[in-house]
Amino acid sequence: MTRQNIVVGLDVGTTKVCAVVAGLRDSGPDMLGLGISPSTGLRKGIVINIDATVDSIKEAVKKAESSAGVRIKSVSVGISGGHIRGFDSSGAVGIRGKEVSPSDVRRAIDSAKTVYIPLDRELLHAVPAEFTLDGQDGITDPVGMSGVRLEAGVHIVTAAVSPMQNLLKCCGKAGLEVAEVVFNPLASAHAVLTKEEKSAGTILIDLGGGTTDIVLFKDGGLRYASAIGVGGNHFTNDLAVGLHVTMNEAEKLKKEVGAAYEDIVPSSEEIQITQAGGQRRTLPRKYLAEILQPRCEEMLDLLKGEIKKCGGYGNAICGVVLIGGASLLTGFGEMAEVVLGLPVRTGAPGHVKGLAVVSEGPAYAAGVGLATYGQEPEPGKAEADAMHSVFSRVTDLVRDIFRHADHFHLNNRKEGGVLCLKSRR
Ligand SMILES: Nc1ncnc2c1ncn2[C@@H]1O[C@H](COP(=O)(O)OP(=O)(O)OP(=O)(O)O)[C@@H](O)[C@H]1O
Ligand SMILES: [Mg+2]
Repeated sequence: MTRQNIVVGLDVGTTKVCAVVAGLRDSGPDMLGLGISPSTGLRKGIVINIDATVDSIKEAVKKAESSAGVRIKSVSVGISGGHIRGFDSSGAVGIRGKEVSPSDVRRAIDSAKTVYIPLDRELLHAVPAEFTLDGQDGITDPVGMSGVRLEAGVHIVTAAVSPMQNLLKCCGKAGLEVAEVVFNPLASAHAVLTKEEKSAGTILIDLGGGTTDIVLFKDGGLRYASAIGVGGNHFTNDLAVGLHVTMNEAEKLKKEVGAAYEDIVPSSEEIQITQAGGQRRTLPRKYLAEILQPRCEEMLDLLKGEIKKCGGYGNAICGVVLIGGASLLTGFGEMAEVVLGLPVRTGAPGHVKGLAVVSEGPAYAAGVGLATYGQEPEPGKAEADAMHSVFSRVTDLVRDIFRHADHFHLNNRKEGGVLCLKSRR
């Protein structure tokens, strides 16, 4: 492994900041370190307190540094929140030679990117969806084909300027360079969706603490991107209000004994709760599900609306993949399958090696995706790597060499033609 193979993803979420250090090798990404800190400076995915966010970032980065044995200088940071918008655009160019060259493709994409973007918004991504050559549509890679007129269809993702600048400011104040800003679910998709899922059509839903991001992939490209300002914290809040308990107690109850709908909880089950004043009470566990069910229904209704909006019912052949911590609520996946009327699976970056906690947790998909975004490895590619144990030993060796090495600043990372905005500070 060389110095250039170390990459760092920074997921600044509403409930946690997560820094993932990855080592990239031919066989797939290897997670070298992880740092997590509680996040208190964000609301609904947007920075509302700079100092608190800087402290959380510093803490997560410091933990990741000592866990991986590297110094982190540069990160690929994720952004999400209700201010993210996506829309389709297209642009056409004449072919200079007889065959389409990579530069023709770039020109066509650049032409599709020439759209009016209001001053208060910033272009985040222009993801190629499909190409049309002399009227023949549905082409994913036109390079080498003969033709006269090349048209590129791209999905443009924009972010509001101020949340973006505040996020960059926080990274800067925490002493980090930002190599890229990536819409979180785009990075997560890189970590959890297979090539087949992206090609046949899949909706990826990231249920975080304060936001829920939705993206549709079809024919290998991004077709729809959106975010709504609801997340797992609403469940916690409902329990705190409904049971008269503190937010901490509500959070604990939700994770340990919460359930998305009443029918999955046996009537005989009882639980103990500690109310805000310190009184202990015994309640039927079903009571928690009674509080949570309407909120889950409301959230799934909103998601259903988003799926309809993006044409997901005709296009998402592979159904829905759920990630994010809130997707872990007992029974949520089953309920989603019924309400949304699509097959649902929980996604996790299971193909990565190194840290079990990362590869098993849907809440770490964004962190892993941000670290490995723009790199080739696809889920499933590295599974059958018989050399894994040998590499693991080599990793330990290399890690020692890196112990005092600075993290290499990665610039110009691109994935399959995805153009990423260079950070504006
Ligand atoms: N086992 C669990 N059961 C239910 N909810 C859970 C569980 N584990 C985590 N959560 C919830 O997941 C949410 C946090 O998810 P995640 O870590 O993906 O959010 P985030 O990235 O910090 O926030 P966001 O993406 O909204 O900015 C919290 O509301 C937390 O209570
Ligand atoms: Mg998140």
